[in-house]
Amino acid sequence: MIDRVSFTSDNLDLKAVSGNGQSPCNSHDHYDVAVKRVPPGIFPAIPVDRRSERPLYRQLYDGYREAILDRRLRPGQRLPSTRALATELRISRLPVLQAFDQLLAEGYCESRVGAGTFVSSSLPDQRPTPVARGAPAEPPGRPRRRTVSRRSSLVLRAGPDPWLAGRGAFRMSQAAVDLFPFRIWSGLVARHGRDPRVALLHYGSAMGHRPFREAVAAYLRTARAVRCEADQIMVVSGSQQALDLTARVLLDPGSRVWVEEPGYGGARDALAMAGARLVPVPVDDEGLDVAAGIALCPRARAAYVTPSHQYPLGATLSASRRLQLLDWAERSGAFLIEDDYDSEYRYDSPPVAALQGLDRASRVIYIGTFSKVLYPALRLGYLVIPEDLVDRFAAVRDALDIFPPTFHQSVLTDFLTEGHFTRHVRRMRLLYRERREALVNALGKELGDTLTVRGGEAGMHLVATLAEGHRDRQISLRAARKRLWAMPLSSCYLGEPTLQGLVLGYGGTDVAGIRDGVRRLRAVIR
Ligand SMILES: Cc1ncc(COP(=O)(O)O)c(C=O)c1O
Repeated sequence: MIDRVSFTSDNLDLKAVSGNGQSPCNSHDHYDVAVKRVPPGIFPAIPVDRRSERPLYRQLYDGYREAILDRRLRPGQRLPSTRALATELRISRLPVLQAFDQLLAEGYCESRVGAGTFVSSSLPDQRPTPVARGAPAEPPGRPRRRTVSRRSSLVLRAGPDPWLAGRGAFRMSQAAVDLFPFRIWSGLVARHGRDPRVALLHYGSAMGHRPFREAVAAYLRTARAVRCEADQIMVVSGSQQALDLTARVLLDPGSRVWVEEPGYGGARDALAMAGARLVPVPVDDEGLDVAAGIALCPRARAAYVTPSHQYPLGATLSASRRLQLLDWAERSGAFLIEDDYDSEYRYDSPPVAALQGLDRASRVIYIGTFSKVLYPALRLGYLVIPEDLVDRFAAVRDALDIFPPTFHQSVLTDFLTEGHFTRHVRRMRLLYRERREALVNALGKELGDTLTVRGGEAGMHLVATLAEGHRDRQISLRAARKRLWAMPLSSCYLGEPTLQGLVLGYGGTDVAGIRDGVRRLRAVIR
């Protein structure tokens, strides 16, 4: 912002002209000029000992030089003004000026007229050679210096999967963020930003912001047939944190947990990190095969399920399987972790009611998220916790991150209670239905003899299983080279895959992009 003020030079950009129309030449003097505020540099952690025999200017010079050579300060990074640094260190400005002059003279720093002093951008890049992720930190044969947890190795991967490397056609979990009502949203953000309530700036409840929990509970009771009160709602940073918390509360190392096969890797990771032993239970057109689960592991501590829209195959857990599952949980004392991640989007019939609503024995931990229905970077989700476990969840949450950030909870409360959420979901449902239809039709036209579509009734992705003889991983790798982000179905299996196919997201790609993507996919497959 340009404004006209009288100032001392610290942290101000002297680009504009002084009163007599000439550029200021000594940035340490006072000027009356048009100025642009520039951000102050960060004060580096350089120890200064006033009692040392080493002169102060030398200590500063050495400290800065070392920080630059160590790359703690990077080329192009702004240094604080000499005045601010002297004030911060509570020393006279003279040694600071001397140290800076020497750094400038030796080329470690450069000054830009009107902008301040920066680490020289022409210094050679002495970045240490990076060690590849997952690679041994030291040459083989030598003893490892660091011992780290085995659990962290369970989730460490060599790098992101190639089909998750970019955005565009078929990338999973992409919402149509370009159509999010940002005008309305930013109005609400401004409303809460302008007038922050002091009480909301202090530490809050581990369960989350009360008005938001009331709004979520009302929504879940009405739209998802969840039996809950606001007291049972815990606000979390998306389903992933909900899964992590649930695993910490319910499981001990070695606890056995049913997971759907194929299933959601994010849930498997969270459960494995808590030390769970995962029991893959097959899925068919009715969802989780409960009888198979009981045969495999009747005494499991918990089961993770996606009853409304099985991830990734898309089945809805049938009524008889729901009752069977609840009955098993009640009889065996197991918990059911219900992940209801995208149930708002069902296209050919009304949304399926949540499993939690049928539970009479408080066995279900219900998890929901705003990642799909609004946008994932919001990082807001919720848990519905059985009443007798609320205190335990709250205590564990308190030990982890104390409580969730309040600001966007307040914004979203208004978004929910003022009707914007319902309108947005209705609009998105129509849009995604159109995109799904475009994808199904294009797949039928271009690849009907190679791919069979399944699970397109709901959500923002579908699965296209491959005809005999095709390997999904090879196709996905080739597709990624063409910037098509088709996830191989086999990557969703814990054990040996029984199906080969592609998991295709369509939420974030418009109809033209979908048609073009399918044509390009055909070229990849053929
Ligand atoms: C099965 C499933 N659950 C949950 C999520 C959402 O995770 P989060 O709420 O942490 O963004 C996803 C996102 O891809 C998912 O596929």
